[in-house]
Amino acid sequence: MARPCLLPFFLLAAAAVLTSAPSGALAKSKLAKKSDDIVNGPLLTEKIKAKRTLIVGPDEEYKTVQSAIDAVPAGNTEWIIVHLRSGVHRHACCFPISPISFSFCFQEERGMGNGKGRTSISHESASADNAESAAFTVNADNVIVFGVSFRNSARSGLVNNPEIRSVSAMVAGDKVAFYHCAFYSPHHTLFDSTGRHYYESCYIQGNIDFIFGGGQSMFQCPEIFVKPDRRTAILGSITAQDRKAEDDASGFVFLKGKVYGVGEVYLGRVNAPDSRVIFADTYLSKTINPAGWTRIGYTGSTEKVMLAEVNCTGPGSDAAKRVPWSRRFTVNEASKYLTVDFINGKEWLPAFYY
Ligand SMILES: *[C@@H]1O[C@H](CO)[C@@H](O)[C@H](O)[C@H]1NC(C)=O
Repeated sequence: MARPCLLPFFLLAAAAVLTSAPSGALAKSKLAKKSDDIVNGPLLTEKIKAKRTLIVGPDEEYKTVQSAIDAVPAGNTEWIIVHLRSGVHRHACCFPISPISFSFCFQEERGMGNGKGRTSISHESASADNAESAAFTVNADNVIVFGVSFRNSARSGLVNNPEIRSVSAMVAGDKVAFYHCAFYSPHHTLFDSTGRHYYESCYIQGNIDFIFGGGQSMFQCPEIFVKPDRRTAILGSITAQDRKAEDDASGFVFLKGKVYGVGEVYLGRVNAPDSRVIFADTYLSKTINPAGWTRIGYTGSTEKVMLAEVNCTGPGSDAAKRVPWSRRFTVNEASKYLTVDFINGKEWLPAFYY
């Protein structure tokens, strides 16, 4: 057996979580199935049964998030909770690749889903290289984050400056979940690079290719905000998904979310021959260009790409002017993408919406 069959072990969160009384109904429910079953700190804390908690803050044993990450022994197979005191933690941090599961859970202080406004990991870095620019990097498997904001505060640069990549989070481990988190950056905000990932009730903001990479990911109830950026003449795209072959399991699924903002963008840009992105049951505001999708910067065939909309609503969902190679599925046709089975979520998520 390659890996012990345990839940992930690293919960990154905030300090009041352990002390707040678990709310009975939530703590008892096996899975958070409905929108009113809010995934909160006590629920996650109970589910992962961590034996160790590390606290990060200016007056705590661990002054930086990185020092808490570094305190975890190689080969750790048990859940560890890392509570972040509320405030801005100003440094980049990275979960290294680890031979066995890392299993961390970060939580912000309040533990009630409000923390994304109060607790952030913030770093200013722009580069021509996405990975190098990241404020937060997860290369380890089994990491859960609850209620933390990730911000790359790089300033908008000059037109045609190649150093415009400013990733807020790069997610390259397997079985990584974010609940009630937020991702801020002017550009290339969320590098969803590789592995199975789950984002529930997260806020993601950006302009060009701001959710990108080759991850196999589900975004449940996301709030996607398009920010104007006058540095480039082209219209940006929310997604640029990197699925390179038919047997590659990757793809981005957006469910029951809301897309709005300032200016105009495409839902996605073709970035590889088998790019796969689905927006389902999502409200699309006028910020979506009527063509819907673009192939700018891509010279290959669009024959095999799967860029699709399913049962979306709002003025941005009008099909009349969509590019002919985009797809429109019925809920039935798309059903295999519309549950956490798409990321084998029932096997590893401590809580999920559907
Ligand atoms: C279509 O989306 C709406 C919400 O936007 C939802 O209430 C409805 O159940 C969806 N229809 C199907 C068939 O899933």
